[in-house]
Amino acid sequence: MEPTNQDSSAAGTLLDGSRFIRACLRRPVDRTPVWFLRQAGRYMQEYRDIRKHHSLIEICKESDLAAEVTITAAEKLGVDAAIIFADLLLPLEPMGLDFEFQAGEGPVVHHPVRTAEDVRALRTDRAGDLAYVARAIQKVAAHFRDRLGVIGFCGAPYTLASYMIEGGGSRNYVHTKQMMYGDPSAWRTLLDKLVKVLEEYCRLQVEAGADVIQIFDSWIGSLGPVDYREYAFEASQRLVRAVQQMGVPVIYFGVETAGLLPQMAATGADIIGLDWRQPLDDAWRAVGHGHAVQGNLDPITLFAPLEILEQRVEQILRAAGGRLGHIFNLGHGIVPGTPVENVQAVVRMVHGFRLEAPHG
Ligand code: CP3
Repeated sequence: MEPTNQDSSAAGTLLDGSRFIRACLRRPVDRTPVWFLRQAGRYMQEYRDIRKHHSLIEICKESDLAAEVTITAAEKLGVDAAIIFADLLLPLEPMGLDFEFQAGEGPVVHHPVRTAEDVRALRTDRAGDLAYVARAIQKVAAHFRDRLGVIGFCGAPYTLASYMIEGGGSRNYVHTKQMMYGDPSAWRTLLDKLVKVLEEYCRLQVEAGADVIQIFDSWIGSLGPVDYREYAFEASQRLVRAVQQMGVPVIYFGVETAGLLPQMAATGADIIGLDWRQPLDDAWRAVGHGHAVQGNLDPITLFAPLEILEQRVEQILRAAGGRLGHIFNLGHGIVPGTPVENVQAVVRMVHGFRLEAPHG
């Protein structure tokens, strides 16, 4: 019989390493580990208080503040992992692109990358400027030691390229796909440059004490499986492998990925992050049970009455079936206005959940 994640025969080893890291490595755990995408953010009063005095970018760059925000959120929720407070777009700056966060509009890149010449002008020699993120990780890792997993992160090449080219969020990714199809050589150069910078950025984070790296390919669902294979897979795979060579597991996450899961798994990522649009057991089957999975509660369920929330949490845990390598999470980030007490309640539900004793 396949071992389950709460196998009592393995109890002697259950305390060896945090339960989050153990689940990443598909080892038995005493409880299913849980953390939340965007667990530090505007839904939390402590974060809003700091935001009254500092911009998002200031918090990211001031390592004491970034560490404080990271630690406060993880402790307040009682989760098993802390994701470093940073933003996906930070690497754009050392590559030579200015951007800002405009209230209500999200990120805006002032001079989007549209031509081969724009791609050529991007720098790849200044990833070291992102050392402020590594300093924040050092502080968080020193605070938690082995109690909690510390997650570093970066954007995936496709998703970051789409921000650079569109100049912000997008509905149809017209400019991105125009470059992809129309100037494949510029497209490949752009992804190569991104992989180079992101690899160095991840190395800084791992050396500073990140236990795991999550690669956010948030907008990869804008590609069909054929275009994913042709235009994005190889660069993602290269980044995944480079980070694994640094000695840490990689979580590869995307949204609206139902048609892409087998290929995402083929990058070799240890853990695949799932959105909520597919039942977890179907998605895990598509990924393959040789990989761990993370997910996949709809973040808006956090606004539902507790009974509904509990049903949804249990449905996911039952779909995981106690298999080795499930990390409970949302299918995408917590949104502003989410009741903090419901997020805390989910942590209690996940930690309190026990599968009925296996038969036979
Ligand atoms: O606990 C955490 O997860 C916080 C760290 C974190 C932030 N951004 C801080 C942040 C992480 C992991 C990110 C990743 C990120 N940033 C992604 C990938 C994750 C995803 O959602 O798919 C993306 C696409 C971005 C780019 C970005 N940054 C967007 C689209 C926005 C939203 C703009 C808005 O106003 O809603 C941001 C801003 C941002 N980054 C906020 C936070 C807490 C909220 C804005 C604020 O504090 O002013």
